[in-house]
Amino acid sequence: MPAETEWTHLYATIKKKIGLDLNLYKQEQLRRRVLGSIESKGFSGIPELAKAVEADENVCKWLIDRLAINVSELYRNPEKWVELETKVLPMLLAHTQKLKIWSAGCSFGAEAHTLSCILENKFQGSHTILGTDIDAAALDQAKQGNFCEADVRGVPPTILDRYFTRAGERWQAKDSIRKNLTFRRGDLLSDKFDTGYDLILCRNVVIYFTEEAKDVLYRRFFEALKPGGVLFVGGTERIFNSRQVGFEAPLPFFYQRPLEGDNRWRNAS
Ligand SMILES: C[S@@+](CC[C@H](N)C(=O)[O-])C[C@H]1O[C@@H](n2cnc3c(N)ncnc32)[C@H](O)[C@@H]1O
Repeated sequence: MPAETEWTHLYATIKKKIGLDLNLYKQEQLRRRVLGSIESKGFSGIPELAKAVEADENVCKWLIDRLAINVSELYRNPEKWVELETKVLPMLLAHTQKLKIWSAGCSFGAEAHTLSCILENKFQGSHTILGTDIDAAALDQAKQGNFCEADVRGVPPTILDRYFTRAGERWQAKDSIRKNLTFRRGDLLSDKFDTGYDLILCRNVVIYFTEEAKDVLYRRFFEALKPGGVLFVGGTERIFNSRQVGFEAPLPFFYQRPLEGDNRWRNAS
């Protein structure tokens, strides 16, 4: 087993190189993945890996790509998207016609494209959707809007037909759902956040973070939302201290920053 000092040195090297703080991740799983990566690339151990990360930007990118668990698909957890479409979006659109949305930890863009399909199909407008992730390779795919069969298996057939074209074995998103999407690198654990969001999606990302890191992140999401704005989390990511953070939770897995005054989210049940 590598010595604790070796881990400390590797983490410090990565932090210096790209600003990512691996101390804020659950350690058991993370370390298992680092050790697996070392083996697959033929490094002799953590010190050699740290040296390579220091010397070569591409090794650092490769390592982050290995550590990032990019599993995603369009319309992942379909019942939650139905709730978003039938309850949350109408409520948000009662206050603005131009939604500012952020898919935080977007991986290869499946979540952002799903949202764009729903908006284009039912709530057209000049909405903006930003997708951010730490994984450059996943972001490249997100920018292309190109998906394999497994990525789109949950897409309703009429939506697939309307907003995607077949490109060999893959599916290409049409411009009508790509036009409002922007993707860029962003680290949820260290970046300064923009504010004024109507909706933030952060699903299946915080499961990798320590409890302390999660708590800080939820408070920062709260600040990044407009009053009335909603945070949409993953199916295993209930926020147990949501009231302490300031959120109301009118629906499971949707947390609202309260509106001032009387304009609360009344219609949700
Ligand atoms: C399992 S995917 C979730 C994708 C999508 N949100 C979904 O639910 O289908 C987790 C993503 O979180 C990203 N991630 C991990 N740590 C991050 C960080 N500090 N900042 C931003 N993204 C991060 C990973 O690169 C990965 O793409």
